[in-house]
Amino acid sequence: MKKNIAVIDGDGIGPEVTAQSIKVLDAVAAHYGHEFHYKHCLMGAVAIDQTGNPLPPETIEICLESDAVLLGAVGHPKYDNDPNAKVRPEQGLLGIRKVLQLYCNIRPLTIFPSLLHLSPLKESFLKDVDLVIYRELTGGIYFGHKETSTDGFSSTDTCTYSTSEIERIAHLAFKNAQIRRKKLTLIDKANVLETSRLWRKVVQQLASQYSDVAVSYMFVDNAAMQMILNPKQFDVILTENMFGDIISDEASVLSGSLGLAPSASVGNITALFEPIHGSYPQAAGKDIANPIGSILSTAMMLDYFGLFQEAKRVREAVSWTLENKFVTKDIDPINFYFTSTLGELIADYVGHKITDQVNHENIELRKSTVI
Ligand code: IPM
Ligand code: MG
Repeated sequence: MKKNIAVIDGDGIGPEVTAQSIKVLDAVAAHYGHEFHYKHCLMGAVAIDQTGNPLPPETIEICLESDAVLLGAVGHPKYDNDPNAKVRPEQGLLGIRKVLQLYCNIRPLTIFPSLLHLSPLKESFLKDVDLVIYRELTGGIYFGHKETSTDGFSSTDTCTYSTSEIERIAHLAFKNAQIRRKKLTLIDKANVLETSRLWRKVVQQLASQYSDVAVSYMFVDNAAMQMILNPKQFDVILTENMFGDIISDEASVLSGSLGLAPSASVGNITALFEPIHGSYPQAAGKDIANPIGSILSTAMMLDYFGLFQEAKRVREAVSWTLENKFVTKDIDPINFYFTSTLGELIADYVGHKITDQVNHENIELRKSTVI
């Protein structure tokens, strides 16, 4: 199989984590006889610095011509605390979501048995947790009309949803529930918000087409609490843009590190794959970021290409590194491996260059000497 992949390295740790995903994709290509071609393009703070535009037109062009987009992370602290900044790195991200019509953001939560001790929750709460969040990504308050009054004393963000925007993502969530545990929870704030009542109405109507799926409804404040109290009750979560942003960050840390969580954004054109984490500027250039969120996003890309066996192999490689304590600094601050080393290890495992009789001593040599 031959695929063209647009690579948006982005800011902070973005380039370091995508570099590891490319090593893994190259190992997949070599081992399984595929051809992946990469085109790097600019977005975010790095694009503002070089072109003045967080989403340059060439980037849009390259993404539209590609079979998939691999994204690192965007964001830079110099813009975060400046409410007057006219351009922001995040405009690039929101812009590409809109241009590619990536209306459905899929965020699975996987619990790795070897990392249970790192979770903020007790181990007993985590057993059997296996959920996936379907977050609407191109509508709602993120994209509604925004305004600040001329006197500067009031501001408005409008939240709008249409039935068709809700239906298209709801269908995808229902279909996924059918091949999972057949449970779908709509998270909303229907006791207060008109848009949430529309979400409930549309989902209730669609439910009859998916009679094998058990549908439940939960207010977002309760859902935030239930995610901590009893996360195993969830199977497929469906929710609007803003609630999905918040609930998915909450869910991701249950696995022990935000650095592990992948995501796929799909729509009508080409799909985009990115870790959930941000650009983590404090770690940029230090080779300490966790590349697993990006590498697991790459596994989701392989699934999207229909390369299921390859995707499975990548996931096996990730589990193997975690089980054998080949982990980055966020997981073990004393005995850790560098981002680049972990990328090589995972790529080598994917390419069957590491067997179970692995020479641990050789790998030990690549461990950090910072103690
Ligand atoms: C995410 C991020 C983005 C969002 C930011 C960077 C604009 O938090 O992908 O979850 O809010 O969607
Ligand atoms: Mg977020």
